Amino acid sequence: MDEVGFFHTLLLAWFALAAVTFVLLLFVRAPYGRYARRGWGPILGKKMGWVIMELPSALGMPLLFLLGNRQDNAPALVFLALWEIHYLHRTFVFPLGLRGSGGGHALATVVMAIFFNSVNVYLNGRWLFFLGPRLEPAWLADPRFLLGGFLFAAGFAICKHSDAILRALRSPGESGYKIPRGGLFRWVTCPNYLGEIIEWCGWALLTWSLAGLSFAAWTVANLAPRARQHHRWYRQEFPDYPRERRALLPFIC
Ligand SMILES: NC(=O)c1ccc[n+]([C@@H]2O[C@H](COP(=O)([O-])OP(=O)(O)OC[C@H]3O[C@@H](n4cnc5c(N)ncnc54)[C@H](OP(=O)(O)O)[C@@H]3O)[C@@H](O)[C@H]2O)c1
Repeated sequence: MDEVGFFHTLLLAWFALAAVTFVLLLFVRAPYGRYARRGWGPILGKKMGWVIMELPSALGMPLLFLLGNRQDNAPALVFLALWEIHYLHRTFVFPLGLRGSGGGHALATVVMAIFFNSVNVYLNGRWLFFLGPRLEPAWLADPRFLLGGFLFAAGFAICKHSDAILRALRSPGESGYKIPRGGLFRWVTCPNYLGEIIEWCGWALLTWSLAGLSFAAWTVANLAPRARQHHRWYRQEFPDYPRERRALLPFIC
């Protein structure tokens, strides 16, 4: 089988695995953060866990860019820049700001996340920088790119703003959980997850690729069940939790 055949087989299997993961995560709480627990291997510190897990994505994309044949192609450079804006932040900036001594990542989460990030970056980077069609610079003015770029930027901003509200709930050295308020928390329990999902839907649109769509599907598979679990958890822990707040989608669910 040549690489194109391998790529498409992997992509198909990847969509199928996202669907299986979605169903599994409805029943099993991913063992990190407030759900970190024994039975999934040693618990790693949360900062170190994030850096190790996300490193394949942050380093893999520039590597695939260098191994590809699009170094002089404007859309390819923009794709690389957008990816790195997200992943340099997630890998090196986001973990530094985390507060609280609890939580952490069970080793199983870290191993699964490394696997996920490695396959995901291969599918996206290899397609955009080598296997997929070489896009003309005019793509950057195409409505699909513009709308996707808007969604990517809006999702990124929502995610970062919401993560910042969560971080500010704890003073340095403090642990424990409080009810988050402000921003999109007014309507949903997990606006950071909503922002992340919008961001990668935007990526799917702006790259106009099945690889990008698979990333959006995986983001929903990972985060929609977790948003439901967080929502239930808050309602159990806080009797005064705002009744009108939904889990992930304002006014819906
Ligand atoms: N694309 C994907 O597939 C994917 C998958 C997973 C995560 N992510 C992204 O990664 C980021 C982090 O995800 P996460 O699952 O760790 O988010 P999370 O459960 O909301 O936690 C984020 C941080 O805020 C703290 N925190 C959360 N709720 C709090 C509260 N009520 N009071 C005080 N502190 C609170 C957590 O502390 P503790 O650690 O102590 O709980 C953690 O440090 C998000 O932006 C998410 O979108 C993306």
